[in-house]
Amino acid sequence: MLSKDAIKLYVLGLSLLGLTAWVFFRENRMDWTDYQAEFKEFVTEKFGAERAAQVPTGIQQIWVKDLDRVDRCITCHQAVEWKGLETAPEPYRTHPKEILEKHPLTAYGCTSCHGGQGFSTILPDAHGNVEHWEEPVLGAEVSEAYLIKNSKALMEMNCNSCHRYDRETKGMDYINTAKKLVEQKDCRACHTINGRGGIIGPDLTFEGEKPTEQFDYGRLTGRHSVFAWQVAHFQNPKMVSPDSVMPNFGFSSQDAQALALLVMSWRKEPIPANYISGVQLRDVPTQEEIEKEKRMLEGEGAFFVQNKCFICHSVTSLGVDSAAKIGPDLSDAVTDVQSRFGRTLDDFLMEPTGTMSVVLATQIPLTTEQRQQAIALLKVAYQRKLEQQIKNASPSPMPTGK
Ligand code: HEC
Ligand code: HEC
Ligand code: HEC
Ligand code: HEC
Ligand code: HEC
Repeated sequence: MLSKDAIKLYVLGLSLLGLTAWVFFRENRMDWTDYQAEFKEFVTEKFGAERAAQVPTGIQQIWVKDLDRVDRCITCHQAVEWKGLETAPEPYRTHPKEILEKHPLTAYGCTSCHGGQGFSTILPDAHGNVEHWEEPVLGAEVSEAYLIKNSKALMEMNCNSCHRYDRETKGMDYINTAKKLVEQKDCRACHTINGRGGIIGPDLTFEGEKPTEQFDYGRLTGRHSVFAWQVAHFQNPKMVSPDSVMPNFGFSSQDAQALALLVMSWRKEPIPANYISGVQLRDVPTQEEIEKEKRMLEGEGAFFVQNKCFICHSVTSLGVDSAAKIGPDLSDAVTDVQSRFGRTLDDFLMEPTGTMSVVLATQIPLTTEQRQQAIALLKVAYQRKLEQQIKNASPSPMPTGK
């Protein structure tokens, strides 16, 4: 015998199942004609039959020749340019206005920002959540799969295919943060990005093109996606690539996600130049950066600037300041190398280990004479440091006499 409660639960369960099935059926069976009919009804209710009679019927599309896109999204999303439907349910809602002022629909279509399968007029195909389509509509569904809290963030990857050369773009908070981090941490110390930077790590200019199967997921737990790999790698490079010399910068998970979106947005898309925002087609160092470098080249530490050591190292005692400080200050390398590596500085620079073995083998191939020059200069640097310490430690000249 079933108890009363069990029967209640049973009935509840059945009705929930029924509801789910109905929703599923509706979602998968409604085609564009149903949405258009529903929209007409909706407009009739809200604005009257006369207005409803003007709603176009049949497949609607925006053809953008320059971007090679035919987007039929407006077949269902009929209200994008209407006034007064700002709070209507999707797909009958007015599109947020501000963004379309800078990017008129006739010139941009929909998929250039949102992704999705422009020519399709059925769901889920149109939203691209189907096999063999690599650019789904970047919204709530994909965000959930990626465990990214802000469902608007993913779309920024698409925005950045045209905005990659901007330092900052309104409405692209994640990408803006990531671009700042790339400057602050000077990823170019090791990576070439847009034709400028080092060769210790791989060229990242088209990192977004690297196919899923070329990543090694062996040490990754959870979902295997390029996004997951990138986030994990930013949070701990050595965990994902054990032999890596890429530093662990201690990124928060949000910063790591932002950087993952940025590097994944670096794709090789054929976008006509008039769709690329910003006048400069290559990011270049600022005037301030150029002047600082010039100043440092005139001091005692010029060697470390000329040979690009300063990309990663300050040598404070010789007036050399590194923006990124990826490696230690070399002012006291003489003693520091001894205590850290148990070797003399001379020994270390002739036969380096760790990051410096990679640096000197790839990016900065110093000759033996240049290494000797570096060693001699680092001894001077240590001397200067001691002198500066003594100067700072002793109070201003002691009053003599009584
Ligand atoms: C067959 C009708 C149909 C077509 C065609 C269609 N959509 Fe939708 N769209 C919907 C419906 C219904 C919803 C609301 C339910 C949902 O979110 O799935 C929606 C919701 C959305 C959302 C909000 C959901 C989110 O995840 O944030 C976006 C963005 C969107 N569509 C973009 C597009 C784009 C871009 C295209 C063209 C490539 C497109 N749609 C084509 C019916 C359609
Ligand atoms: C220039 C980029 C751009 C273009 C082009 C564009 N959109 Fe959007 N769309 C956005 C942005 C940004 C938002 C989110 C605004 C916000 O809520 O902050 C948005 C929001 C939406 C939403 C609401 C979903 C949500 O998450 O709030 C839908 C649906 C949508 N767009 C559909 C379309 C359709 C259909 C087209 C083509 C007719 C289109 N968009 C063209 C950038 C664009
Ligand atoms: C297909 C290329 C393309 C895409 C995709 C695109 N934009 Fe743009 N955007 C442009 C161009 C071109 C301009 C005009 C830039 C100019 O006037 O220098 C522009 C202008 C802007 C401006 C105004 C900038 C200013 O300085 O006045 C903002 C803000 C902006 N876009 C944000 C976005 C956001 C957010 C997205 C994604 C939702 C996006 N864009 C997607 C090409 C694009
Ligand atoms: C000291 C040198 C160094 C610095 C600084 C550095 N990286 Fe790396 N990076 C590497 C090396 C070496 C690899 C290849 C081994 C690995 O996968 O970690 C790498 C790998 C990567 C990869 C994966 C490339 C691929 O597809 O295999 C990305 C993305 C990346 N770095 C981004 C960054 C960013 C962004 C920064 C700045 C926040 C940065 N790196 C700073 C050395 C560096
Ligand atoms: C791409 C970044 C990078 C560049 C460029 C670079 N280094 Fe380094 N260097 C490092 C890192 C990181 C360390 C810390 C040791 C490690 O992680 O293996 C280091 C360590 C050192 C040390 C040991 C310092 C100590 O206190 O233990 C010396 C000496 C040194 N580097 C000299 C140089 C010289 C000279 C140059 C220029 C010819 C140079 N480095 C260029 C990243 C760099």
